[in-house]
Amino acid sequence: MENSRILITCAKGITPFLKEELLQQGFPVLSEGVAGIATEGTFDDTLRLNLLLRTGHRVLYFLREFTAHDAEDLYRGVSQIPWEKHIAEDGYVCVTSSVDDPSIRDSRYANVKCKDAIVDRIKEKCGQRPDSGPDQDKTVVNLYWKDGVCSLYLDTSGEPLSRRGYRKIPMGAPMQETLAAAVIIATRWKGNSHFVNPMCGSGTLAIEAALAALNRPPGLLRDNFGFMHLKGFKEAFWNDLRTRARKEAKKSLECRIIATDIKKEAVEAARKNAATAGVEHLIEFSSCDYSETTIPEGEGIVILNPEYGERMGKIQELEGVYRSIGDFFKQKCKGLKGYLFTGNLDLAKKVGLRAKRRIPFFNGGIECRLLEYELYEGSRKNKNRQIT
Ligand SMILES: C[S@@+](CC[C@H](N)C(=O)[O-])C[C@H]1O[C@@H](n2cnc3c(N)ncnc32)[C@H](O)[C@@H]1O
Repeated sequence: MENSRILITCAKGITPFLKEELLQQGFPVLSEGVAGIATEGTFDDTLRLNLLLRTGHRVLYFLREFTAHDAEDLYRGVSQIPWEKHIAEDGYVCVTSSVDDPSIRDSRYANVKCKDAIVDRIKEKCGQRPDSGPDQDKTVVNLYWKDGVCSLYLDTSGEPLSRRGYRKIPMGAPMQETLAAAVIIATRWKGNSHFVNPMCGSGTLAIEAALAALNRPPGLLRDNFGFMHLKGFKEAFWNDLRTRARKEAKKSLECRIIATDIKKEAVEAARKNAATAGVEHLIEFSSCDYSETTIPEGEGIVILNPEYGERMGKIQELEGVYRSIGDFFKQKCKGLKGYLFTGNLDLAKKVGLRAKRRIPFFNGGIECRLLEYELYEGSRKNKNRQIT
């Protein structure tokens, strides 16, 4: 297939980090939205993107655009796309959509019309209608319909890329894998200094840190993507990409990754998740109060994602926790960079340190911040003791 527009979706607020990843991989950025970036490339490039991207959710390969003012226009436009080239007549197709058009009140209706046009066309050309339904683990077609213009894409990811497959035990209030990857990019940690993650929960931050430090692409962890179910899937090319990525990945770390949690069952879950991700041997897990976490000599970052009272915990109890995180940073983490990821800025003020950077994120619809604290050694320490 020829060069085409490729749209990569991501969670709200992640675009700057997805952009950084795309530019690093040599892809142009054609346009940016709040939850996605348009780039361009060949169909083969979509395989690379699915393998490599840490912060994207879906890699959508653009097929065709047409104007549509009602469901009949949609049916006609979709029928003109040669679906028989992409989807097997004995296959399975799922249609997902994002519809913002006055003629359609229920986007499910647009989905059904679009799906009908696809399967009817394949029946007409090949004599058999593929199955269809809601499962996204086979062929997925995406419809974007806004202001009278319909864009049709092949969703080459199928299941969103945030589902890496390693988090078998999520525990309470886990961070989405793609969000954790973006938070790590935001810290500018490059894998050559220590990564300390007290309050690790299910271990998402520590696991994503280990994968990033090894230069091991997250796509190596998955064995199912949408593109695999399309006609003409180049299996040998895909296997080559994976083999090359494995060879280029490091086998060991130049730093220590330490993950702790007060709950023994969280540490056990994190350990199991890390084992599924193939990085358990690279992370030092233990169960303790966050303030007892070993802080190694040398440079590094300490990153905490405490509860913030929206989904777990109670605000009043948490005020004391946030206050003592400030003391922990000042007393035990001198010379490192401290990070706090929270969805409650009032609680963050209790830390009592001046944040050097405040990076906005969203977690499950809640506006959050990643706060960065420079934890100076010695006399510079006092400069920090200011209320945010
Ligand atoms: C919001 S969750 C962290 C989620 C994590 N980022 C993930 O992706 O799974 C907060 C974690 O802090 C832990 N925690 C709460 N108080 C703690 C304390 N005093 N010391 C250590 N861990 C604590 C909880 O057990 C919980 O696992």
